[in-house]
Amino acid sequence: MSSTDTLPSPPESCTTEAAKYNFPSSKNIPPTESIFESIIESSELPREKSQSLPPGAYVNPAFLDFETSEIFHKEWISLAHISQLPNPGDFVKVDVCGEPMLVTRGKDNQIKVLSRVCRHRGMDLMPNGYNYPDKGNERVILCPYHLWSYEMGGKLVGVPEMQEADGFDRTEVCLHEYRSEIWEGFIFATLSKEIAPLSEKYSGLRDQFIGKWNLAEAELVWDQHWDCEFNWKILLENFMEAYHHLGAHRKTLEPFLPAKGCWTEPYNENYSVMHLPLKENMKEEILASGDAGTTMKPFPGLAVEDYTEWWVYLGFPNFLIFNAPDRTYWYRLLPTGPETCSLTTTMLINPATKEEEGYDETYESEVAAAIAFHLEDMEVCDATQQGVRSTASKPGRLSHLEEPIWHFQKYLADRIKQYKAT
Ligand code: FES
Ligand SMILES: [Fe+2]
Repeated sequence: MSSTDTLPSPPESCTTEAAKYNFPSSKNIPPTESIFESIIESSELPREKSQSLPPGAYVNPAFLDFETSEIFHKEWISLAHISQLPNPGDFVKVDVCGEPMLVTRGKDNQIKVLSRVCRHRGMDLMPNGYNYPDKGNERVILCPYHLWSYEMGGKLVGVPEMQEADGFDRTEVCLHEYRSEIWEGFIFATLSKEIAPLSEKYSGLRDQFIGKWNLAEAELVWDQHWDCEFNWKILLENFMEAYHHLGAHRKTLEPFLPAKGCWTEPYNENYSVMHLPLKENMKEEILASGDAGTTMKPFPGLAVEDYTEWWVYLGFPNFLIFNAPDRTYWYRLLPTGPETCSLTTTMLINPATKEEEGYDETYESEVAAAIAFHLEDMEVCDATQQGVRSTASKPGRLSHLEEPIWHFQKYLADRIKQYKAT
């Protein structure tokens, strides 16, 4: 028996929605100001001295208020991929920190990000519990309250019993439209009028790294929603470091993406990039044969060298991409409370893969593998949230394999400094 076989394993079946009582955080939640100071101090340490965030950053409601107003309501937030909305009438529903949004493709084929707030008396047009799914296709959206109806481009088209409302003209009424941008096939929105276009902010990320995947041509073939019992940054930090391949993924990812070989690009104020080279003998085989050796078709445009590693990208604040030669995992991650978040895990592929013989079986096994390694992450994230709530929790030292976490701290510290300066 190898030594790793004796390490603890997650339960066979686990659910992130298990009913459990969350004791009020027993830590005396520190005032936001001390969390701010601690994050700024951590971010200024050299990488070799870096440490994790103060526990209050994962439990403090006032800190989430700061994140909501200074990050989620000011930055570009990724909501959907264009391949999820191929036809007029298609929609994807997303909630961004209290903002009910709807990504739609109207009958004019334009993609828009609309508000779901009804222009009558303000009901969310698609509240949970009514019969609208999280994604789908509709000709019109009907508000369940008084049956005002809107076409998918946002125009009000039906209003019962409003003939006596003096001067009311339904053609002047439209759902609010958020500022949006499509970047490499991903649809982003922002509440900010001032923020620079995303194409500027992420230009280096596209030109030096992600661009060659040409993700605008990729197809999203799998998505799964998870309601999580942990702070959004617990998942983000887990996503961005390969150190945990040694423990949490020792049987799934570590055998071919060993933690030891991973390395991080120098800090950039807009994004963080980590390289995950394949195991040495796999790399040699690929370089000798020129064959990617992947189960699905690699993305066109990649060179043979690109077949020898995987990549993890974080576009600040929460655009999470895990790229392999033949698939991209995009995670849509949004806070739903100080100690909860909503996560949608997805997989995008080269559409040519779907023409290959045996695609259905490949799809099944790839989705099963994605869920398997994701469940390993969910277990450790759940348990980390329980840990950071404890009175005994305090910042711990980071490995060089966790460098993207230190990058993210610098991003957070910049937001805090900007907030304090205004
Ligand atoms: S609130 Fe929507 S129709 Fe009245
Ligand atoms: Fe992981």
